[in-house]
Amino acid sequence: MEYRRFGRTGLRVSVMGLGSGGPSQLGQGSGVAEADAARVVRRALDLGINLIDTAADYRESEAILGRALQGVPRESYVLCTKFNPVRNRNNQRSGEEGLKTEAEMAESVERSLSRLQTDHVDLLQLHGVPPNWYDAVRDRFVPQAQRLQSQGKFRFLGLTETFANDDHHETLTRGLADDLYDAMMVGYNLLTPMPEEHVLPEAQRRDVGILVMCAVRRAIARPEQLETLIASLKAGGELPLDALPEQGPLDWLVHDAIPSVPAAAYAFAAGHPGVSCVLTGTANVRHLEDNVASILGPPLPEADRERLVELFGPIRRNLGN
Ligand SMILES: NC(=O)c1ccc[n+]([C@@H]2O[C@H](COP(=O)([O-])OP(=O)(O)OC[C@H]3O[C@@H](n4cnc5c(N)ncnc54)[C@H](OP(=O)(O)O)[C@@H]3O)[C@@H](O)[C@H]2O)c1
Repeated sequence: MEYRRFGRTGLRVSVMGLGSGGPSQLGQGSGVAEADAARVVRRALDLGINLIDTAADYRESEAILGRALQGVPRESYVLCTKFNPVRNRNNQRSGEEGLKTEAEMAESVERSLSRLQTDHVDLLQLHGVPPNWYDAVRDRFVPQAQRLQSQGKFRFLGLTETFANDDHHETLTRGLADDLYDAMMVGYNLLTPMPEEHVLPEAQRRDVGILVMCAVRRAIARPEQLETLIASLKAGGELPLDALPEQGPLDWLVHDAIPSVPAAAYAFAAGHPGVSCVLTGTANVRHLEDNVASILGPPLPEADRERLVELFGPIRRNLGN
């Protein structure tokens, strides 16, 4: 495994981390048995993964992780969870009444610790904060987080964006300017290179650790969804009609030591020096092993990286969902 510095936290984290949310939620989305999810967690540790990401909102993920990690020395892995401060993220009207309370944050953190069977997490993240809610969330929850931090409930504070509603990465841009967070989670993938323009270099400048989410998500992991997505970008005039073939539109990335499009996606995400750790939200041991091999494999050739940025950089939207 390769380990990288996790920004100002000073922690060393594996370049691939295990996610327990996204479409899979440790297999809760696809009926994977808990014993098989536990095998994924144990295999991840065997492969040298030392960062695990979860959230109060990922159904039973925290409890499944708590059980799977029984007997594993707590100091051997970096545990990250989240508190979602907004009652309804789709509510466009941000206001006091739409926010949770400070007491709810404290309760959520206690519940996370109890389900994870630990007395502290390494990173507590404000979860999926939409840009229009950012100021109110910061003003109410950063002071409360600091109180909980001083009680030893968590070591470092993080901020995550919403992939679906924040195409211009506004939440993280504002969070970086406020300089209140030790780590951030960004949606970044080979169809969504925009974080390279500001978020990643600014995080490097401010020494903020970066976790990547949605490195393959659904569209990059599933060929038919990728074809549908590329066809819709062409139909909408966002890609020239002759830019990519209809079938296997990204198969040109598969050559030499890059065995598949998902492998190219992990190589792409880990290729930026501002990235500390790329999460993989898999509940499948074979996928996990492939993904670790991909991220430890050779980097994406520079010409391929440049072509991706040229094609998808001008599309100012988060793609891959
Ligand atoms: N706002 C937020 O805070 C936020 C939002 C999204 C995600 N996250 C975090 O980031 C983590 C990663 O993001 P994500 O789970 O959305 O996206 P992801 O890891 O890019 O994609 C996960 C999906 O890809 C599939 N997959 C993975 N490897 C594959 C392979 N080699 N071949 C085929 N399919 C493969 C998984 O299915 P299988 O299970 O079948 O492998 C799953 O459906 C999450 O688990 C969560 O911890 C945070």
